[in-house]
Amino acid sequence: MVKQPRLYALVPCAGTGERAASGQPKQYAPLAGQAMVAHTLAALARVPRLTATLVVLAPLDTQFAAHVPGFGGERAWAVACGGATRAASVAQGLVELQRRGAGAKDWVLVHDAARCLLRAEWVDRLIDACADDTVGGLLALPVADTVKQAEAGRSVRTLPRSDKWAAQTPQMFRLGLLQQALANAGDAVTDEASAVEALGHAPLLVRGELENFKITWPAELALAERLLHSRNRSEIA
Ligand code: CTP
Ligand code: MG
Repeated sequence: MVKQPRLYALVPCAGTGERAASGQPKQYAPLAGQAMVAHTLAALARVPRLTATLVVLAPLDTQFAAHVPGFGGERAWAVACGGATRAASVAQGLVELQRRGAGAKDWVLVHDAARCLLRAEWVDRLIDACADDTVGGLLALPVADTVKQAEAGRSVRTLPRSDKWAAQTPQMFRLGLLQQALANAGDAVTDEASAVEALGHAPLLVRGELENFKITWPAELALAERLLHSRNRSEIA
């Protein structure tokens, strides 16, 4: 019998959140009563097919345990092995997953700590779409706005948008392929798919959701807060 590959989530959580300017690493900003990353991890915890979730923290992180006190046990791992870039943090996380028994054929779903509006059903959608794929894939959205080429703050050209998608996370690849891709691509890539593309593969685009945006700027912190409050209200009702 062929062994089924396992599925792991890897959450890079080692950034400083400069652009969000929330006075602390943004993943610990309070949102609707909980730190941002606590919302992210709660969604992943509702995906039973995940063997475990590994959170990659900054080497000097002192806040995670206080903000997510219940996180631990067989399926919930946090390791302070983050690097100077997101790509380095992910690469270090892959090494840690291997140390904990993950193999080259196992799937890794990399998901930004800063996409805290994630829902388990969207993760399930990605897994269902990619489980039999030879490459893997990512949640993404077709670009709806008209896209401008800028020069010195002026619009000089309009780009075709029908073939453009905006990448989200999770991004799901086999551990072995992803490790090779990141080693080849170096630290500058801002997502896993671009590293995999650089090896000549074409990751599957799986339709994501508008609400699965990444919190980058202060306005997105405020929007996430409003959405999480309204979800809480509709769950209580
Ligand atoms: N990340 C990481 N290690 C880094 C940089 C980023 O694990 N060295 C993580 C962040 O914690 C975040 C995700 O990667 O969950 C996406 O990165 P981004 O939104 O750019 O977060 P920051 O790098 O923290 O923000 P900024 O670029 O504004 O400083
Ligand atoms: Mg960053």
